[in-house]
Amino acid sequence: MSTQKLIIMQKMKPRSYSLCVIDDIPVDEARGFVIYHNELPIQLFIVRKENSIYAYENRCPHVGTSLDWQPNQFLDSSNSLIQCSTHGALFRIEDGLCIQGPCVNQYLTGIRVEIKDKDIIVFYPRTIKNSSNN
Ligand code: FES
Repeated sequence: MSTQKLIIMQKMKPRSYSLCVIDDIPVDEARGFVIYHNELPIQLFIVRKENSIYAYENRCPHVGTSLDWQPNQFLDSSNSLIQCSTHGALFRIEDGLCIQGPCVNQYLTGIRVEIKDKDIIVFYPRTIKNSSNN
């Protein structure tokens, strides 16, 4: 994350965004969303594993492209890892760590997410501290 972006994000007040209800995302699938934070479009995606959900920015740490090769295609063929469509990096769903590919040992940017009365709510820009650069 660049210093300029970090400064901008620190000035933004975190807000909550209701995306959908958990039943809208089948188990072992993912869905992409765009939220508008201070009028800026932010691409993110949610992965559901059983009744757990995980949220990440839709941006590969390798060169910064979107991960999906077509809408909502964020997982590998086994639905057990997140896969970047550009160069094939594989990330753990639980923490976003890249375990194979050109950005191994780097993380996706996690986003705080909660389920309230079945609604999936993300909090942005307050991200989960899961890497050395956020
Ligand atoms: S942009 Fe994702 S692996 Fe290269």
